[in-house]
Amino acid sequence: MCGIVGYAGREEPQDILLAGLEKLEYRGYDSAGIAVVNEEGLQIRKAVGPLANLRKAIGRERLGGKAGIGHTRWATHGAPSTANAHPHIDMDGTLAVVHNGTIENYAEKKEALLAEGVRFRSDTDTEVAVMLLAKHYRETRDLKTAMDRTTAELKGTYVLVAVAAQEPDRIVAHRRNAPLIAARGKGFNLLASDFSAVLKYAKDVYLIENGDTVVVTPEEITIYDEQDRLVKRELMHIGWDAEAAEKGGFPHFMLKEIHEQPRVLEETVTACLSDHGQVRLEGITFTREELNALHKICIVACGTAYHAGLVGKYVIEKLARIPVDVDVASEFRYRDPFIDEKTLFIAISQSGETADTLEALREAKRKGARILSIVNVVGSSVARESEQVFYTHAGPEIAVASTKAYTTQLASLYLLALYLAEVKGVIAPEEYEDYVRELRALPDKADETLRCAAAVEALARDYYDRDQVFYIGRGLDSALAYEGSLKLKEISYISSFAIAAGEMKHGTIAIMEPRTIVLALATQDRLLEKMISNIQEVKARNAHIIAFTKETNPHMAEQAHEVIFLPVCRDELMPLLAIIPLQLYAYYVARNRGCEIDKPRNLAKSVTVE
Ligand code: M6R
Repeated sequence: MCGIVGYAGREEPQDILLAGLEKLEYRGYDSAGIAVVNEEGLQIRKAVGPLANLRKAIGRERLGGKAGIGHTRWATHGAPSTANAHPHIDMDGTLAVVHNGTIENYAEKKEALLAEGVRFRSDTDTEVAVMLLAKHYRETRDLKTAMDRTTAELKGTYVLVAVAAQEPDRIVAHRRNAPLIAARGKGFNLLASDFSAVLKYAKDVYLIENGDTVVVTPEEITIYDEQDRLVKRELMHIGWDAEAAEKGGFPHFMLKEIHEQPRVLEETVTACLSDHGQVRLEGITFTREELNALHKICIVACGTAYHAGLVGKYVIEKLARIPVDVDVASEFRYRDPFIDEKTLFIAISQSGETADTLEALREAKRKGARILSIVNVVGSSVARESEQVFYTHAGPEIAVASTKAYTTQLASLYLLALYLAEVKGVIAPEEYEDYVRELRALPDKADETLRCAAAVEALARDYYDRDQVFYIGRGLDSALAYEGSLKLKEISYISSFAIAAGEMKHGTIAIMEPRTIVLALATQDRLLEKMISNIQEVKARNAHIIAFTKETNPHMAEQAHEVIFLPVCRDELMPLLAIIPLQLYAYYVARNRGCEIDKPRNLAKSVTVE
């Protein structure tokens, strides 16, 4: 989704804005632009396509100035084009605005402005904001007051950031439900959609709250709350270093992030296990009484995080014996779910900014549920709106296709399941100890699993041109199938399907063809025999079978055409290891097909619109 960066300081903004936008590329975009205020007025440069096109459009030109704003656009209102790219300017060309999110009442406002003689040049909702801002600026001659009056008229979910030719070292921004941070540097200050854009320059940040208006100058960051009161927000120090958001020698962020999994799992697990082998959930302070009073758990998330939730349901129900519902966040509100104060609502989100997840969380809050979130980005909106937060330790995930966030979400859900099981007294001490032992061993086993990379790369080389791929599995492997299949389709654009293996014969098997590839996930010991029957069913239709199973099942080599053997752990923990070859398969297939792996078409890293 759209990315925003703003700079006010002693240096020329241009290079800092472009470098910041580069770091926001991972969010997904189709055009980019910057606005700089210099002694001649507002300078706007925009281009469709990658940032390289914007750099080319600027060429050797130096724009000078002390303040500027930049934007990467992910089209919502109007096709990708230079006219629709941000920044947008008013009719006099003295005010510029960049915007993330959507303005819901833009059509009505546009009509009124047209009637007043305003002429529009784009199809965007953003242009309505800049024209309104101009109207209020003519009355007030003050950017902050004009911004207040403008945002009072606009409905929706957005961040608006503006500069004015008449106020050459000032940026004014307003946040309404879309992410915004302000970072403090020495002799300069920054604004951005997320940390990655500022990490190279500053690590002390303010998390801008909903309804806040921020005024940024080279010397100061001033924040006003919804009631226009001057407020002091807590300054937060970001522990992530700039290198954590670099490729570190890998050709793609996705491959780097796949390989980081042993380390981030180690960090996630060790943060929650005491020396005596007890699970202590970092950041969770629900009392044992409160947890014992729960009647059910409701997990809500989107995409990969939802797939983690499917595994979570299975494991929490098995270990802690509490009923668990799992919902796709965009659907949750529409089924009027049974939720009350005895429900624990768990939102899972890497970014913590996913609009669907946030709205579901708010609905659960309205219904009185207790709210816990499993989030990666510290201080994100989901984290801030939750009663309690359990942070995963995945570090910055840049590739659009989620990998290390998923495995750390699984690790967190295992820890939570074990914790709840112990609190409820439904797990035998030996079993508890065994799980703890296995959890501690997971990072090493993930490392061992990564050794299959060469074999998976060879498979991908052989089959990357197949246009139909199925992922089948039973029990936890069926949950895993969804995640494996999503990885393949999002980065290689192959039509891939995930299905519970036993369900195929009820219809889907009809579309299987001789060139179909079937990735048969067979990691669950007690379901192995049944899974082998399903493998035979698809084999009989001449599909090509690649099986993924524990190394203790060598006889799988007789059933499937190819097998990837995995290190052994308890069945419940196997999804965390078995996803690794599936991530690698998607990666190498996409690479063989020449796809843009880290920034797949049509997708955005953080989906901040509903
Ligand atoms: O940031 P979130 O975890 O809330 O994002 C949810 C989904 O948009 C995300 O997992 C998406 O499905 C990934 N791109 C999949 O790789």
